[in-house]
Amino acid sequence: MLSEENIRSKMKTARCGSNVVYLYETGSTNDYAKSIAHEAQDGTLVVADCQVSGKGRIGRNWNSPHGVGIFMSLILKDGLKADKAPMITIVAAMAVMKALDRQCDNSTDVSIKWPNDIVINGKKVCGILTEMKTVGDSSQYVVVGIGINVNNESFADDISRVATSMYIEEGKRFDRSDIVCDVMEEFEKYYGMFLENENLSSIKEEYNSRLVNMNNEVEIIRQDGNYRAQSLGMDEDGGLIVRRQDGSLETVVSGEVSVRGVYGYV
Ligand code: BTN
Repeated sequence: MLSEENIRSKMKTARCGSNVVYLYETGSTNDYAKSIAHEAQDGTLVVADCQVSGKGRIGRNWNSPHGVGIFMSLILKDGLKADKAPMITIVAAMAVMKALDRQCDNSTDVSIKWPNDIVINGKKVCGILTEMKTVGDSSQYVVVGIGINVNNESFADDISRVATSMYIEEGKRFDRSDIVCDVMEEFEKYYGMFLENENLSSIKEEYNSRLVNMNNEVEIIRQDGNYRAQSLGMDEDGGLIVRRQDGSLETVVSGEVSVRGVYGYV
């Protein structure tokens, strides 16, 4: 069961999730986290049972009903340079993937769609939205928002083609508090690795070994037009290296492009 007491008693981390704010219902845990970030201690985790206006990337909504999902936002106050924030999102994706590995059957294919969607059997089970406040070129705080579809039994028609839940894929229900704490434990580990060099050099290999479409043809979607290229994996700064059809290599950057499989979402 998701509750403040369960989360606190199961949390094993020193930093990430060392302080927990639990809300039965809120607009968006990212918005709540941003509203307290100035005074909140580093590592504070805001968790809600339901979000009435959950936010996805590029202005989309995030489906956040009561009783079935995980909606949480972690406040980090390292004062990192603002251009490092996209890498924190990738660290969070690694952490969620590893936490879902712990929970799911060994045969379940949990993977990452660059840069930070977690997919099971080709459908999206988790999304991550990182926001920050900057002073000059440094971050005053970073809020890492994570949404995981855990015990959802179904999705509305418009998203069911791309969205899934752990319940739908595994055929059993999960304790959301366990998953919250597993994600924090994995995040603390991978974030520590990231902070050593402030890049993804020590994470890259494992990340790429779980990347959907590694070495396959993908569709690069850019504002000025789409093209196909072969995905060669993430580099140490979080960009995706691709080989274009003329043989040239280029690195695409999240935020500027999105990438999907040639047959659809994955
Ligand atoms: C995406 O579009 O893939 C990102 C979705 C991020 C959803 C999470 S749920 C917790 C946090 N609060 C929000 O309003 N959004 C993020």
